[in-house]
Amino acid sequence: MKYTELNNGIKLPMVGFGTWDVRGKVGVAILEQALETGYRLIDTAIMYGNEKEVGQAIHNSGIDRGEIFVTDKINSPYASYEKTRKAVDHCLAETGLDYIDLILIHEPYETYKEMYKALEEAYDAGKVRAIGVSNINRRLYDDLLKDCRVVPAVNQVECHVYYPQLIYRKYLEEQGTLMQSWAPFTEGRKRIFDEPVLKEVGAAHDKSAAQVALKYLLSNGIPVIPKSSKASRMRENLELFDFELSQEEMAMIAQLDGRKSLFGWYGD
Ligand SMILES: NC(=O)c1ccc[n+]([C@@H]2O[C@H](COP(=O)([O-])OP(=O)(O)OC[C@H]3O[C@@H](n4cnc5c(N)ncnc54)[C@H](OP(=O)(O)O)[C@@H]3O)[C@@H](O)[C@H]2O)c1
Repeated sequence: MKYTELNNGIKLPMVGFGTWDVRGKVGVAILEQALETGYRLIDTAIMYGNEKEVGQAIHNSGIDRGEIFVTDKINSPYASYEKTRKAVDHCLAETGLDYIDLILIHEPYETYKEMYKALEEAYDAGKVRAIGVSNINRRLYDDLLKDCRVVPAVNQVECHVYYPQLIYRKYLEEQGTLMQSWAPFTEGRKRIFDEPVLKEVGAAHDKSAAQVALKYLLSNGIPVIPKSSKASRMRENLELFDFELSQEEMAMIAQLDGRKSLFGWYGD
């Protein structure tokens, strides 16, 4: 596994495991499989209704807590300063963990700045090792920067070969915030696994279109959190560190950038 460093020195795995729709007993088994396969970052959220499953799988794995990075996210039912304070304790109680590695404000709710203040306090108190935001566009990000004490460590956004947001990534990096990709396979909105350019580049390296799609983001310094319920794909999505894309290949893949969100969440 390769790691990157957050603005406070904490290490974040470049490839993590997404858990949208991973729930119940089956969910625990999927999470245990992911940990056994080698994933060391698990991306959960209050909205996903699976924090208990995440905590259970970590406990069952027997892996040292310090080796695992857990991201959690706080959503609209907690959209105030007071409620976000409570949400942090909810995250700890549900996962059964002593601390969360990274907590994000899930979306830019109207009250996202007061929610962020509550996260800053949780950070001071050692309940969370890093704090950040998700789905925040540049205007809202700049607004938050003017107000905050702790520069967001991460902004987790829609990011895949069709909308890699590379200009925004660079801007965020200059301010000290790491851009992390969600839906690196577009959540099924595009036929990414049949994309000719990705297949062609993959064939040259004996890799799949999926692996090339992820590698393109990693090569641009963007950590990814693909989700899969299948052991073979979990492995495939981790086998990314034994090949490199040439400049020419990177340029070919860059042509896929449509500069438009497939989800329409950003209003820019
Ligand atoms: N912050 C946010 O607002 C936000 C929003 C959306 C998602 N997320 C996070 O990002 C994670 C990833 O996004 P996502 O789960 O929505 O979508 P995704 O990772 O883009 O795509 C997942 C889909 O791709 C399939 N898949 C995975 N690996 C594959 C491979 N190698 N070959 C072929 N198919 C493959 C999976 O099917 P199988 O399971 O059948 O393999 C699943 O249907 C989420 O799970 C969640 O943790 C965050």
